[in-house]
Amino acid sequence: MDSFPTIAVISILVLFLANSIRTEAQLSPTFYDATCPQALDAIRTSIRRAVSRERRMAASLIRLHFHDCFVQGCDGSILLDETPTIQSEKTARPNNNSTRGFEVIEAAKREVEKICPGVVSCADILSVAARDASVAVGGPTWQVKLGRRDSTTASRSAAESNLPSPFANLRDLIINFQNKGLSARDMVALSGSHTLGQAQCFVFRNRVYSNGTDIDAGFASTRRRHCPPAVGNGDSNLAPLDLVTPNSFDNNYFKNLMRKKGLLISDQALFSGGSTDSIVSEYSRNPRTFLSDFASAMVKMGDLEPLTGASGIIRRVCSAVS
Ligand code: HEM
Ligand SMILES: *[C@@H]1O[C@H](CO)[C@@H](O)[C@H](O)[C@H]1NC(C)=O
Ligand SMILES: *[C@@H]1O[C@H](CO)[C@@H](O)[C@H](O)[C@H]1NC(C)=O
Ligand SMILES: *[C@@H]1O[C@H](CO)[C@@H](O)[C@H](O)[C@H]1NC(C)=O
Repeated sequence: MDSFPTIAVISILVLFLANSIRTEAQLSPTFYDATCPQALDAIRTSIRRAVSRERRMAASLIRLHFHDCFVQGCDGSILLDETPTIQSEKTARPNNNSTRGFEVIEAAKREVEKICPGVVSCADILSVAARDASVAVGGPTWQVKLGRRDSTTASRSAAESNLPSPFANLRDLIINFQNKGLSARDMVALSGSHTLGQAQCFVFRNRVYSNGTDIDAGFASTRRRHCPPAVGNGDSNLAPLDLVTPNSFDNNYFKNLMRKKGLLISDQALFSGGSTDSIVSEYSRNPRTFLSDFASAMVKMGDLEPLTGASGIIRRVCSAVS
């Protein structure tokens, strides 16, 4: 007799839960259309200005979004400074003295705060910035899904364990991305952003001095010239990840790999007789496939474990929980 109210209550609960789970996982390109319609224009203006000041900044911003998303999701955690209660990710091994662009995100946030204070998250600004950076250097565009909220925490240890190493082999790279729900094909496409930007001597030294057969001898010798062999000498000297066109978004990165001219061990691993060789050669033959796969993979990466709904906060400045 009284099973009806019980069933009714359970059904309502189930519906409520199903709905809240759905909205939790759901980001939307129109998220700020009502609450801050000018946010996207403001961010684009800010990013364009930064990239025209320094073209490499496009690379740095794309990488920053990646390093945010792989550590407790795309939640702006990488932007937080060290405090007594926050172990900043900025000094984690893959980031320390390497990730850049923090002040560009902070400046974009200031512009957005002027228009609609307390509405747009730093995590979303970083995601939009990565897209605008790609466009600014001739790369693909995509629709950025929005509605991520900002974390109140960061994790240096998660940054050290979740971000891939430049010394990783193909198997480890595939597992690393698989752990984030990204396929080997996504991994190869996303690595194609090494068509932009620079790496420091200490991350490519052992490859260019390895005398191995998986590196072009002339290329190795060129890269040794500005990267002294002894650890501690010239560690921060820069070399382009794409030796042909480091400032434009194209598929030369993949062509380089086929000539054994990948700069990092993790780059060359994508074309070294393994299961991803066919993807690299496909992207080197067909730039449009690369560009469209890259865009899709960036959307997929941007979906990683967002804080939504009542979780997290909207920070006032990106570097602090405030
Ligand atoms: C597959 C595993 C990956 C490894 C092991 C890796 C590693 C690295 C390393 C070591 C650097 C040079 C950092 C330095 O010397 O300061 C670098 C630069 C860069 N990475 Fe990756 N990366 C990977 C995937 C990605 C992905 C998925 C993206 C973006 C979607 C990305 C975007 C970039 C960009 C744009 C740069 C240049 C940054 C600049 O010039 O400021 N990388 N990466
Ligand atoms: C980070 O890098 C700076 C400068 O290169 C160095 O002084 C510092 O010890 C590094 N911190 C960590 C935690 O590795
Ligand atoms: C940090 O890296 C930059 C280049 O990215 C370099 O100019 C600087 O010397 C490095 N600092 C230390 C302490 O290694
Ligand atoms: C590579 O060859 C050079 C010169 O022939 C030598 O000095 C260097 O020690 C070799 N490196 C390795 C890792 O074997």
